[in-house]
Amino acid sequence: MAGLAVNVDHVATLRQARGVNYPDPVAAAVLVELAGADGVVVHLREDRRHIQDRDVRVIRQIVQSKLILEMAATPGMIGIALEVKPDQVTLVPEKREEITTEGGLDVVMHKDMVAEAIKTLQGGGMKVSLFVDPSVDQIKAAHKVGANVVELHTGDFCEKRTPRAMAAIQEAARLARKVGLEVHAGHGIDIRSIKDFVGVKEIQEFSIGHSIISRAVFIGLDAAVKEMLALARQV
Ligand code: PXP
Repeated sequence: MAGLAVNVDHVATLRQARGVNYPDPVAAAVLVELAGADGVVVHLREDRRHIQDRDVRVIRQIVQSKLILEMAATPGMIGIALEVKPDQVTLVPEKREEITTEGGLDVVMHKDMVAEAIKTLQGGGMKVSLFVDPSVDQIKAAHKVGANVVELHTGDFCEKRTPRAMAAIQEAARLARKVGLEVHAGHGIDIRSIKDFVGVKEIQEFSIGHSIISRAVFIGLDAAVKEMLALARQV
């Protein structure tokens, strides 16, 4: 029975497309929680293409479940996190020209920088998750640098839906739980692909945004969150 944290970035994408003050991701955060989600996720990107600093601060004040802030491990972002104090920070790699977060954080390559960021954020009372590709080496490195959580990047699986891609997720999830890490999963998951995770008991929480906000355009946010929540509970 997995949890569901809902990413509301794309409500802000719609707002930024017109440079107006609606639709407000703050209102989306309220509705997502009322629908029963276990958490609200926002990604404050360096280029501020969707979520703005004001959104993070206001959502921090109104969220009653938990707030997860996705961000790059830069000094500026770490400063914002220490001030806003989300319940969890998820460190992600960020390239300005990418459409969305394309790959996991290379913890093996950047272990000293990541370890330092984790120490600072945990010192500020936050739990730290690392968004990583489902690879044994990345899980071992995440454990070594002191992360609380690993979020397995499911983008490759959701694109291919192959047994090989699923096997990589299962292996990474098992190892992560074995070494005591909390296991989350996200990226590219929709109401069809989430069913492929049934039986992967190591996954404790899904982080899903784009497909839920897209469904919400047609069936409403409350219904879109509830339908995904019911599917996550079956995993
Ligand atoms: N988890 C992380 C770390 C992400 O960066 C994203 C995309 O912002 C997601 C989950 C959600 O992905 P999607 O919007 O494809 O559901």
